[in-house]
Amino acid sequence: MIAITGATGHLGQLTIHALLDLGTPAAEIVALVRDPQKAADLSARGVQVRQADYTRPETLGPALQGVDKLLLISSNDVADRATPQRNVVNAAREAGVKLLTYTSILHADTAEMRLAADHQATEADIRASGVPFVFLRNSWYLENYDVAQAAQFGALPGSAGEGKVSAASRADYAAAAAAVLTLPNQENTIYELGGDQAFTLGELAAEVQAASGRPVTYQNMDETAYAEMLRGFGVPAPLADKLADADTHLAKGELFTGSGDLRRLIGRPTTPMKQWVKDTLQG
Ligand SMILES: NC(=O)c1ccc[n+]([C@@H]2O[C@H](COP(=O)([O-])OP(=O)(O)OC[C@H]3O[C@@H](n4cnc5c(N)ncnc54)[C@H](OP(=O)(O)O)[C@@H]3O)[C@@H](O)[C@H]2O)c1
Repeated sequence: MIAITGATGHLGQLTIHALLDLGTPAAEIVALVRDPQKAADLSARGVQVRQADYTRPETLGPALQGVDKLLLISSNDVADRATPQRNVVNAAREAGVKLLTYTSILHADTAEMRLAADHQATEADIRASGVPFVFLRNSWYLENYDVAQAAQFGALPGSAGEGKVSAASRADYAAAAAAVLTLPNQENTIYELGGDQAFTLGELAAEVQAASGRPVTYQNMDETAYAEMLRGFGVPAPLADKLADADTHLAKGELFTGSGDLRRLIGRPTTPMKQWVKDTLQG
């Protein structure tokens, strides 16, 4: 039995579809969701839906009954992910889960960006639990970049300078997660995952210009100005500050990898940024 948390989220949905595409029987997949009402489509496909809320430990034991392999998708509550995720790690240990796979961040052992702190805490909790693990250390999603808005306003803002990011599509990260959940001998493995071709945000802006036929430039600013701009767009202050901080660390190489782990796991080249921009703008 393979269980996926965050199954009503973007990555969770894609991972379940990737598992089904790999031939995993729907009855052997457990979708762990905060709100089962949001998972009617998964039930209709024969996937078992169980309620599991990271912040409510009493839901986690029953949800993990009979589960052999668990994918813990990191929470989207950036104020504190570590505490609720610790509940899931504890429940996995108590339920006898045989493989705990966690979506972490690239180079979690050395990353200094503030967004990495929760991932580092959860990786430490998982190691301490003694449950065999896989860390899927993901670089950025391509989907983090609002290329439609950049095409509309002619500007892609950021504070990453000339730093290169190994961003990859969510679908590619999901395919990698599904592969790990179905391959043998994955215990205590760490994957550093990113797209085959890293790029600067200037190069991304140039592709948006080429695909949209409208002038688009990368608008680099310092970290403080970028955080202020994000807040002005309605991003909550703590998240805005962490995103601007992440760009500063992107510039130092924290979101770059040349490992090739993602392409090896999915068995094909990763989706090129240029192709993703074109497909996204064509809607
Ligand atoms: N590498 C990157 O570039 C990048 C970018 C953005 C996010 N991330 C991280 O990757 C994760 C997955 O990405 P995504 O795009 O799939 O995010 P998403 O669509 O926001 O999905 C996050 C999922 O986590 C679930 N969740 C949050 N708190 C929970 C709780 N207390 N108990 C149970 N489930 C909870 C949400 O449940 P509901 O469906 O009920 O809301 C949702 O299904 C994010 O949560 C975030 O940690 C990474």
